[in-house]
Amino acid sequence: MPGVVIVGAQWGDEGKGKVTDLLAERADVVIRFQGGNNAGHTIVRGDEVFKFHLIPSGILYPGKLSVIGNGVVVDPRVLLEELEGLRRRGISARGLRISANAHLIMPYHLLLDQAGEARLGKLQIGTTRRGIGPAYADKASRLGIRVQDLLDEKILRKKIYAAMEPKRQLLRPWAKEPQLDLHTMTEEYAKFGHRLEPHIADTARLVWDALDRDRLVIFEGAQGTLLDIDHGTYPFVTSSNPVAGAACIGAGVGPRDIDEVWGIAKAYSTRVGAGPFPSELEDELGERMREAGGEFGTTTGRPRRCGWIDLVALRYAARINGLTGLVITKLDVLTGIDPIGAAVRYLGPEGARFDEFPYHQSILHRATADLEEMPGWQEDLSHVRSPDELPQAARDYLDFVSDVVGVPIVCIGVGPGRDQIIWTEAGKRFAPLAA
Ligand code: GDP
Ligand code: IMO
Ligand code: MG
Repeated sequence: MPGVVIVGAQWGDEGKGKVTDLLAERADVVIRFQGGNNAGHTIVRGDEVFKFHLIPSGILYPGKLSVIGNGVVVDPRVLLEELEGLRRRGISARGLRISANAHLIMPYHLLLDQAGEARLGKLQIGTTRRGIGPAYADKASRLGIRVQDLLDEKILRKKIYAAMEPKRQLLRPWAKEPQLDLHTMTEEYAKFGHRLEPHIADTARLVWDALDRDRLVIFEGAQGTLLDIDHGTYPFVTSSNPVAGAACIGAGVGPRDIDEVWGIAKAYSTRVGAGPFPSELEDELGERMREAGGEFGTTTGRPRRCGWIDLVALRYAARINGLTGLVITKLDVLTGIDPIGAAVRYLGPEGARFDEFPYHQSILHRATADLEEMPGWQEDLSHVRSPDELPQAARDYLDFVSDVVGVPIVCIGVGPGRDQIIWTEAGKRFAPLAA
């Protein structure tokens, strides 16, 4: 069985949690490879809703490994809260493993994230304010504190001191905050370390072991391709690489360990936070999508910006990730919208046409979407379970998307529930065994 990477093909919140949970049934290991608790991944099982920020979406299966890879930034307080939440619901976290090399989010990272946004004023990125950017910045500056440092209080104290010293000027407004006191912080984090210690491991080795035994490993991405720090709409991006290539780095495997790359995309588009969004609908239709799709952030509760599916961006995501399969989620949300639009190229203010995703920020910021309009459908899709039960207009819409993007559709979401999924011929070998 292969290594399968799940990535967001848009701006995040495409439904990666649900798809990972579905594939996880056949897997031995699910590993998160980047991002932190800026992510919010939802899994709906019957009446129960789970929202995971750090814990990989495989945790609901006992006996499997759910791994936080070295590429993730971990806020230990949030992780312990999530573990406690699982415990209260009677779910075992025995399978959780945390890379000893993953970097930690520290209290000063949260403050610096807020301060950075406040300083930017109108130009702010709209971060989740979870300290993600400052934690990755420290990692690159070699001032990061890693999970393994929690296990030696002396080293921990030295490293916290070295990391805070250069930030003293920036942290001045909080100089008297007890949470920034070196002694208090060291003690608190050392305690977190004691509680997490049973889960800390050499996680790359666990993944190699599963792959070498021909077992299925799911690499669960967070955020989405257009939020990638290298390939997204910089600077309105996150501070890691949500693209498929990062699965290798953030888990510790080689490119040849990856066999399949599935890109998750909604049947429309959403974006949280600031930045260009050429197919955005700032009108009643966008509002209708937000209501019908429940488009409010899983992590911050912010309303998500909504718009038509963007096939220029999606084709770019297909190439950059090397997608082998496309998952279209939330098709049910488009019921009753007629006609349906799809951005097939961008138009510049002076009439220029862009068939490919433009590399220049100024062009992207001023681009509007050139739409292909297609007939909609009125039927409720939430009970459809096979492609041929879909209304003709919905099938035509999906065929059009798949043709333009150049990737086969492997499954289609028609509701948040675990069973509200349609497997196509191309995807069904990965379907849960009961499906
Ligand atoms: P993620 O961050 O990519 O895991 O996605 P989120 O969990 O942040 O957001 C996706 C939302 O859509 C969640 O509330 C899911 O329960 C929900 N969802 C997933 N797939 C579908 C679908 O096919 N139809 C509908 N209506 N909701 C879905
Ligand atoms: P999941 O995994 C949607 C966005 C933020 C902001 C930008 C930078 O649930 O799809 P950050 O806090 O990362 O420095 O914020 O990235 N963002 C997300 N948007 N889904 C996410 O995660 C996101 N994680 C970060 O809104 O625009
Ligand atoms: Mg989310």
